[in-house]
Amino acid sequence: MRVMKIGVLFSGRGTNLKSIIERSKQEGCCYEVVVAITDNLSAPGIQLATELGVNCVVVPNKNWEWHIYDILNKFNVELTVLAGFMRILPTLFCMRWENRCINIHPSLLPKYKGLHTHRRALEAGDVIHGCSIHFVTPELDDGPIVAQEQVLIQPGDTEQSLAARVLERENLLYPEVIQCIASRKITSFDNKVSFNGVKIESPLSLNDLL
Ligand code: GAR
Repeated sequence: MRVMKIGVLFSGRGTNLKSIIERSKQEGCCYEVVVAITDNLSAPGIQLATELGVNCVVVPNKNWEWHIYDILNKFNVELTVLAGFMRILPTLFCMRWENRCINIHPSLLPKYKGLHTHRRALEAGDVIHGCSIHFVTPELDDGPIVAQEQVLIQPGDTEQSLAARVLERENLLYPEVIQCIASRKITSFDNKVSFNGVKIESPLSLNDLL
């Protein structure tokens, strides 16, 4: 079985990073996390990665994007995974990693690109919220959407309670999407995503992938 080399970029807590690494250790998994990279020296995710035996590199503030570019090359990364990486990647980076870089975002894209997604969903009176995984393009939170998980907004929900329920779905969905990319079930070409060789018309859900 061919195992795809994954690099994970993160900036903080690292729950997605943790679930991605844990899934990689299960039997039959087609990907390996060869490096975790952060821009934040005090990110709690550093300890999580280290405890799980994954190399973790902190990039300096100056020229961080070129450091990341070099590290990904040095580790022969085939798929770059953004897991709560809170910087905007330069256009050139996105172009060089076209179809080989994915991001998770805490909203049902194209709704609520950018920050404070849970607050904005509550303020808008939405009934359904969730998370999206998409291939990265130079436009922020805008590439072809691969998969989404929906979460019902309940009466009395706060930003925190809603964020926690969305995060649970994120932590389940992200490793399965990566597994499907690593096993070539999910591919991206020309701004279109295919699943088992067929172009998808709407985002996949966790159930489709299991
Ligand atoms: C996640 O909710 C992720 O969707 C979000 O940051 C959080 C990271 O959590 N990403 C973005 O907002 C990117 N636009 P984690 O560090 O526990 O994985």
